[in-house]
Formats: sequence, structure tokens, C-alpha cells
Amino acid sequence: MRLAALFATLLTLAVASTADAQAQNSASVVPPARIAVHAARLLDVDTGRVVADPLVLVEGDKVVSVTAGGSAPAGMQVIELGDVTLLPGLIDVHVHLTSDPTVSTGNYYKDALTLGSMDYAVVAPTLAKRTLDAGFTTVRNVGADDYVDIALRNAINRGQIEGPRILAATVALGSTGGHADDTTGFAPNIEFHGETGVANGVEGVRERVRENVKRGADVIKFMASAGVLSNETSVGAPQYSQAEMDAIVDEAHRWGKKVAAHAHGAEAIKMAIRAGVDSVEHCSFIDDEGLKLAKQHGTWLDFDVYNDDYILAEYGKLGVPEEQLAKERLVGRTQRENFRRAVRAGEKMAFATDAGVYPHGWNAKQFATMVKWGMTPLQAIRSATVDAADLLGWKDKVGAIKPGYYADMVAVSGDPLADVSVLEHVGFVMKGGRVVHGATP
Ligand code: ARG
Repeated sequence: MRLAALFATLLTLAVASTADAQAQNSASVVPPARIAVHAARLLDVDTGRVVADPLVLVEGDKVVSVTAGGSAPAGMQVIELGDVTLLPGLIDVHVHLTSDPTVSTGNYYKDALTLGSMDYAVVAPTLAKRTLDAGFTTVRNVGADDYVDIALRNAINRGQIEGPRILAATVALGSTGGHADDTTGFAPNIEFHGETGVANGVEGVRERVRENVKRGADVIKFMASAGVLSNETSVGAPQYSQAEMDAIVDEAHRWGKKVAAHAHGAEAIKMAIRAGVDSVEHCSFIDDEGLKLAKQHGTWLDFDVYNDDYILAEYGKLGVPEEQLAKERLVGRTQRENFRRAVRAGEKMAFATDAGVYPHGWNAKQFATMVKWGMTPLQAIRSATVDAADLLGWKDKVGAIKPGYYADMVAVSGDPLADVSVLEHVGFVMKGGRVVHGATP
């Protein structure tokens, strides 16, 4: 009944906030916009409690207060969301906004030879917007060609295009012939041009980290082990020496940057943890010693447990070589079993999908897989809010609806603690106090 009215309100608000932004640009004396958001319920991700009848007051891009049963000050504009649950904006700590299976000719080799970083750059804003509309207001982009991620992040921060807050890694470091070396599997006389993260030796990797920082990296990503979607024969063998991994982490940390290591194999995972990485990505074959080491070091373990379904169902159609699909079959189930062991062991785990391998905007599909393999819905939601924010070093900015935090929030109908898959249908998204996706839940 009130859906049409809500739609109209949101439209007015969107127009009003654009006008406000323009006014702020031309006259800095205009006070920040104040707005209230009212819903039937709010999930407090810190405590797991559901707050009834919450009223969230927003000033500018921040939350000012959250009260139960309160009413907005007279004259303040109120967004009435009705029978929905409010949650903090979601966070995905492992995406690639410069790739998507929809950007493919259906022929792996044709893709490799005819698509360049410019092709991905022009669709990246669309992919970023899809991510935002799906309720993901913050992402960590862990690898992109030719600094497209930096340009994307900066355009979003300038307010020129709409997308999530981005922490960007620029090019991922990797050894010659390893998971980051796109020329593996091609004839030796074929050359690809463009920025590459291929770097070897202690001095080489230190220089590459410095170059990434110089170009604007917020975080450093490196390939500790072999991977699935690349042409080396192993799927999990270490691809850097301990000394190289140690040097990457030492250098990155000196520049104040956290480090994410791609690692499927048990040995590479342990080497990366011993080197002091902040997070291990994929974690497929982690063993008991690895789980123990991660606990000792406080290392985050990020399992992309939805990925396998999509790769096995779709990648054959994209002409991906059978050898890569065979590697995926080795990883898929074991990764999920080890995800369950990690949950039982009480590891620190952040929500990481590898979206880009599967379509952007489908990020939330992973919640149901996480619950199927051992997390409670609250654990899965925390992994994508407070816990992810902690890994990013932004736990005082995002991942909760609290005074002083960015006004990043989403609304879903239904109870996400009873059925986490309701997060796949986010009906309202606010980022930094602006309604960016306003269809009714
Ligand atoms: N980017 C990763 C790789 O190529 C994807 C692994 C996906 N598979 C999985 N089961 N999580 O190694």
C-alpha cells in the first residue's frame, strides 16, 4: 500500500541530496543534510540482538544516533521503510571489479587475445554499481590490471560515479610462471603489454610493493600458491620462497599497508601466515597446523566457498581449458570441508567471494553456502560486517550502524537470522547518508 509512496519519497530524497551536494559545493556554509531512517527492526551485529522500532538519525555521511522507539525531531525528513530489517552495509573483502564472466566472448583464447584492460575499465563502473545495489557498500579489490581499480576508486570517491567504498590492491604480485603471470601457457614468442605484478627475488618483490604503493594501493596482494584459473599445472604449490614472502610483508607493513595472500595449498598457507600476512585468501587445503598457526598469528582466513558452484556450472561454456576445470574439481569440496573445520576451530573469518570470477551483484549468494557449511546466520552476517571491517582496518568507520560510523545501511524483508538468503534481495541501500538503491524491499 505504501510502496508507491515510499518510492516517491526516495525519489524526492535522491533529488534533494543531489541538490544538497551541489549547494555544498558552491557554498560551504550550508549545514550537512539531516535525515532519519525508520524501520520495524534493526540487527545489532555486535550483540546479535534485534532492536525493535529503530530510528537512525543521519547527518551528512555519518550516523548520529540509533534509538529504539524514538521519533524524529520535528520537521526532519524521515525515510519510512516499514516492515523490514535494517543491517549495516555489507562488506566483501575479495572482489575483482575489473572482470566478470559476462565480459567474455565464450572462447578463452579469444578473450586472452582480444580483450584488454580498457574493455574491463569501461564496464567497471557498471559492475561497481551492481555491487552497491546488492547491498555491498565496501569492498576490497584484490587485483586489477593497469591501475583501473585506482581510477575506479578515485572516481567513486569524487562522487562522479556510484559504487562501493573500495580498498584497492592494484596488480597482484606473483612469481614468473605463477598464478599472476598471464603469459603462462602461451607460446614463448607471444608478449602481453601492460602493467604486471610479476616480480621475483627479495629485491624484486620489495620494488614491486613500492611501485604499487606509489600508484595508490591501499593493500598489497600476492600469490603465495598456484591457483585454479591460470595455466600452471599445480593448484596449491608454493610459488614464492619464504624469504620472498617475508620481504613482501615486511615492505608492505613498513608502508602501512596490509597484505592479502592468495593460497590454496597447505604449505603455502603456512608460509604466508609465518611471513605475517593479514589474511589468507581461498585457504582450500589448510591443515590442522595451518589452523593453529592462523590462530597464533591472528591471521584472517577468507574462504570463497560459493565460487565452485559457478565455475563448474559455467566455465566450460566460456571455453576455459579442461585442465583448469580439473583443478577446480580438486579444490571445491575440500575447501568447503575445511571452511567448516575453520568455523569449528573458531578462526577469524571474513566474507570473501572472489566476485568477478562469478557475476558482480551475486555476492550475497555466498551467505547460504556459509550457513550450509557450518556458520550460524549471525556468524555469516558478522563476517560481512564487523569482522570484515576489522580485517580492513576500518572497524571504527564501517560494518555497524553506530554513532560516528558512515551511514551505510541496507534493508531486507524477512528475518536474516532465520533465513540468511533474504540478504540476496536487498531492497534499500544507503551509502554515506545517500539513498543509492531505493526499490522497496
Ligand atoms: N581465483 C581463484 C583461483 O583461480 C578462484 C578459485 C575458485 N575456486 C574455489 N573453489 N574457491 O585460484
